[in-house]
Amino acid sequence: MFKNSWDKDNALNKIERIDKITSDVCLALDVDQTEMHQKIDFLCSGKNQTVMHMASNTIIKNKENSQEDFDSTLPSVSGNKDDAHEVNNVSLNTNSFEESAIQHVQTDEETNETQNNENNSSETKYFGWKQKGKRTIEFDKELSEYVYKVEEPELSSQELRLQNDLLHLFQLESDIDVSEMNIQEKKDHLTDILNYLINKHRLKISKKSKDNIFYYLFREFIGFSNIDILMNDEDIEDISCDGPDVPVFVYHRKYESIRTNIYFSDKDQLDSFAIKLAQLCGKQLSIYEPIVDGKLPDGSRLQTTLAKTVTNFSTFTIRRFREDPLTPVDLINFKTMSLEMVAYYWLAMEHGTSMLFCGGTASGKTTLLNALSLFLPSTFKLVSVEDTREINLPHENWIAGTTRQGFSTASEEKTSKDIDMFDLIRAALRQRPRVIIVGEVRGKEAYTLFQAMATGHLSYSTMHAADINTLIQRLENPPISLPRTLMTSLDIVTFLTSFQRPDGSLERRVNSVTEIIKQDPESKRLISVTPYSWNSAINDRFTYNGGSKILQNIAKKRGWNQQQLQEELDKRQEVLQWMVEHNVRSYKKVGSIVALYKKNPQQVFNKIKQGVI
Ligand SMILES: Nc1ncnc2c1ncn2[C@@H]1O[C@H](COP(=O)(O)OP(=O)(O)OP(=O)(O)O)[C@@H](O)[C@H]1O
Ligand SMILES: [Mg+2]
Repeated sequence: MFKNSWDKDNALNKIERIDKITSDVCLALDVDQTEMHQKIDFLCSGKNQTVMHMASNTIIKNKENSQEDFDSTLPSVSGNKDDAHEVNNVSLNTNSFEESAIQHVQTDEETNETQNNENNSSETKYFGWKQKGKRTIEFDKELSEYVYKVEEPELSSQELRLQNDLLHLFQLESDIDVSEMNIQEKKDHLTDILNYLINKHRLKISKKSKDNIFYYLFREFIGFSNIDILMNDEDIEDISCDGPDVPVFVYHRKYESIRTNIYFSDKDQLDSFAIKLAQLCGKQLSIYEPIVDGKLPDGSRLQTTLAKTVTNFSTFTIRRFREDPLTPVDLINFKTMSLEMVAYYWLAMEHGTSMLFCGGTASGKTTLLNALSLFLPSTFKLVSVEDTREINLPHENWIAGTTRQGFSTASEEKTSKDIDMFDLIRAALRQRPRVIIVGEVRGKEAYTLFQAMATGHLSYSTMHAADINTLIQRLENPPISLPRTLMTSLDIVTFLTSFQRPDGSLERRVNSVTEIIKQDPESKRLISVTPYSWNSAINDRFTYNGGSKILQNIAKKRGWNQQQLQEELDKRQEVLQWMVEHNVRSYKKVGSIVALYKKNPQQVFNKIKQGVI
């Protein structure tokens, strides 16, 4: 497969490699340079190959193959043969890999192989208008790795013209404000207006062409352009683009970090896309403000930088938002925690404990914090403070705050209009919360958070730290500089870890649950116990080490003896087990069962017995 967007020398070099092609079909996407065309013609004529030009593709094929074979090899090409010599310039180039360019040329053998691969590939999924977009994950033998392959309809030049006409008419005639509409309303509105424009202007368009064009218009207007499929694939955790002419990489739940066949072919295209993403978050990416952190309309977390400022090229990283957040039931299913541990957290959170969730990047800190927050009683007043909104809870008595930046260039030059974590936590304290949730602590806000804990507010937050020693070091040293005595206000620190299975999939585990007991008055060391710990990837189990001070305190408060405490834990485990077995996992449902259990545990058991939950 050849692409127009390569620099010419590089492209000609690649075209030379046609000589090595033993296959029947070769696709050259967007090849619009005469010199490159001639080179392809020349090389193919010496190899008894026919060069056929179709719509957006230049296709090279052995002469002995018939036209019918040829058509059937490329079912997705919707090019009009009359347009044979035209080359389109669809802005999205979804089909290229620098290195695998030649191996994508398909012989019959390879076509079979592709079909086999397709069978072997992880579920093929369809996206977009009339499900015309498709993704597969295939093992690329040359690269020896899995590749995320996006296929979208090809537009003929006639279809492209029609698309441009429709776009033009849409811009001229549609002036409805869609900002308040939800996604379904936007879809309906767009469908109506496009159909209206087609009828009004009597545009001649076949059903198939209309669907192809609508696919792209929907993707552009209410989607995320060429990364739209990635933004809709539930299996993707992160999307990252490190610059032009390199593949966009995704972090897939099963296949980890894999390359896609999507890339931005030129710098300007990537710059505009990064600026557009920032605008979608309501922010401005500019030379003045070259780093933007924000929240996309679908809730995903965006980090983007502008070219020739802090990074050479524009980049973006998106942490996909789960509309349906993971719940404790999911975490039991994923074996991130045991049933017993979840029952422990349930009891602990209900009785007011402050917690910190620690681990490396993307270890699942925020997810665990969000999932366990479902155990916070619905009557507690919650105030959350985040840079980018990630916390998603069913609680009604909840003020969700996010920081505001963009009025100054550096933190030292903060203006009164910039509102950081520190300001928000201070404001939160005046909102009389029972619980303060801070997305992630990094700087001086940690100090305020610990002071809030010390004054009786329940606090939950996340922090980058792999173990208790690193955590203490980070807390005690600048910029946080927390006195060790304040650390004793913290009740539980949970450390997360991840490991890779032999099949390459990533698993996340709660590595340890540590309770901070007190500071030793003489040695000044923090005394802690670790009631639960995870063994290892080989012995993938959790061990209960006993000695939970939190549980003992709860028993004391409630007047329970050891047996009663155990019974309470068992009852909660039973409810959790039931939810796991009956796949009751949505955060609203889990939240409502937890709320009912707090009010009337017996009612939950009655409902479970009757199967009416
Ligand atoms: N226990 C889990 N099992 C499966 N997937 C998980 C689990 N925890 C988190 N994830 C997924 O991993 C990704 C990263 O999770 P999350 O944002 O919670 O990590 P984090 O540690 O807070 O990352 P960061 O350091 O960037 O803030 C998300 O897509 C989330 O859905
Ligand atoms: Mg996080």
